[in-house]
Amino acid sequence: MPYRIFFLLLIVFVSCNSDTSTPSVPTDSAIATGLKSPGNEKYRPQFHFSPKAHWMNDPNGMFYLDGTWNLYFQYYPDGTTWGPMHWGHATSTDLISWKEEEVALFPDSLGYIFSGSAVVDKDNTSGFGKNGKTPIVAIFTHHDPKGAEAKKNNYQVQSLAYSLDKGMTWVKYDGNPVLPNPGIVDFRDPKVNWNSKINQWVMTLATKDRITFYSSPNLKEWTRLSEFGQKLGAHGGVWECPDLFPLDYKGKETWVLLVSINPGGPNGGSATQYFIGDFNGKEFIPSDTTTRFIDYGTDNYAGVTVANTGDRRVFIGWMSNWLYGEKVPTEKWRSAMTIPRTLSLKEAGGKAFLAALPVKETEKLGTVLKDAAPEKDGKILIAGKDSLFRLSFATQDENFEISFSNSSAEKFVIGFDKPSNRFYMDRTAAGAAGFYPAFAARHWAPRVGNGNVKIDLLVDLASVELFADEGLTVMTDIFFPVTSFNTVSVSSANVSGIRDLKYIPIR
Ligand code: FRU
Repeated sequence: MPYRIFFLLLIVFVSCNSDTSTPSVPTDSAIATGLKSPGNEKYRPQFHFSPKAHWMNDPNGMFYLDGTWNLYFQYYPDGTTWGPMHWGHATSTDLISWKEEEVALFPDSLGYIFSGSAVVDKDNTSGFGKNGKTPIVAIFTHHDPKGAEAKKNNYQVQSLAYSLDKGMTWVKYDGNPVLPNPGIVDFRDPKVNWNSKINQWVMTLATKDRITFYSSPNLKEWTRLSEFGQKLGAHGGVWECPDLFPLDYKGKETWVLLVSINPGGPNGGSATQYFIGDFNGKEFIPSDTTTRFIDYGTDNYAGVTVANTGDRRVFIGWMSNWLYGEKVPTEKWRSAMTIPRTLSLKEAGGKAFLAALPVKETEKLGTVLKDAAPEKDGKILIAGKDSLFRLSFATQDENFEISFSNSSAEKFVIGFDKPSNRFYMDRTAAGAAGFYPAFAARHWAPRVGNGNVKIDLLVDLASVELFADEGLTVMTDIFFPVTSFNTVSVSSANVSGIRDLKYIPIR
């Protein structure tokens, strides 16, 4: 290792984590209130949404209305691996604690309910509204498993369902499908937003190796506008789960197009790339040909933004990867969502980049226990409970490492490598990995920012989210230590360069 000086800081948790005890399922009310869970289900996230039981993948149909955040998700309620897809449902008033609701959408004669979006149809353009009630309209892919098995090329179509009770119960539209398949095998994941330039709804649809845009005045009749991306961006796998939305960049409306790809991520498997440019009401015109990813860790996929949030852009992704999502060692459920993130456009090196930071609601998670500073012996002891914390600091752009470890000699390492100007996350020795051997790997992310480095980490028992340089570089990784990590150390080539160190235990 090229470091000159080590062990600036040692945070030892006074650990009474019952990680090794027999897992037991918290009561419904405990899960519903998130942080009040007894926390004795091994690897159960405490401030990220995970289903009580069974399989979950992509976030779907997210919308905000009257103080409630609604999160739907790809869900198989009868098993812990992928199966006939439903839309599960959870609600939250603070984006931290989630209450799991009844399953929202069930498979039917047209097939499984694949990913899609929801809109708050305030002007009742769809005509689904009755007695002055605003309809919430879900636009999703019907996937016909028989057609898939028969190797047809038209087994995915777009359909509607609507809710007149703010998303709690749903009625499928009897005119489904609203967008039949023109003969494209991968034809799915509609994300619909209102476009005020053309005063119509615009659907952004993943169509194999490109995105196709459609418009509609009423969500029921769709007209093809254009397509984008066949020769641009990353193409290591199929394109899925897109999103298109404007953000302010230096006072100018600038458009962002999210496109998930699987496989072909920068560190293997699933990942989400994005394009920046202009959407003129018909076509998306990228401002450059750079390939950029919203997150360089291996565990943020299929993320899109929440509808009806005004100027706020809140993003949530699936905190797993198709390489091993069905094999991870959780017992009753599989996978969690990322922390909700606020998106914005920021400049770095003369170019625009999408920055993602934990939503401001996360500030209420824990209180700063101590503004930590290096002591003479290079150690700081902080009484905590388990690896459930936020850690932040600023430093000069020198090599540094943050390592979480346990008494079983396992460790998870996050660092910055100045010579190559990259951040990394290393889970080569971070616990269980036999379920997918390449899980034990080091992941790299190019640094986009410059000057002093700012680090913000969110750690929730079995996941870490790194927001570097105010969200310009983001990495999300999951891990499965045999016993909870109970020590954190920060080492640096320049100890005195570390500033504003904050350790915030959560719970
Ligand atoms: C992405 C995805 C979507 C599809 C869904 C099926 O993870 O493959 O393209 O709609 O999952 O569960």
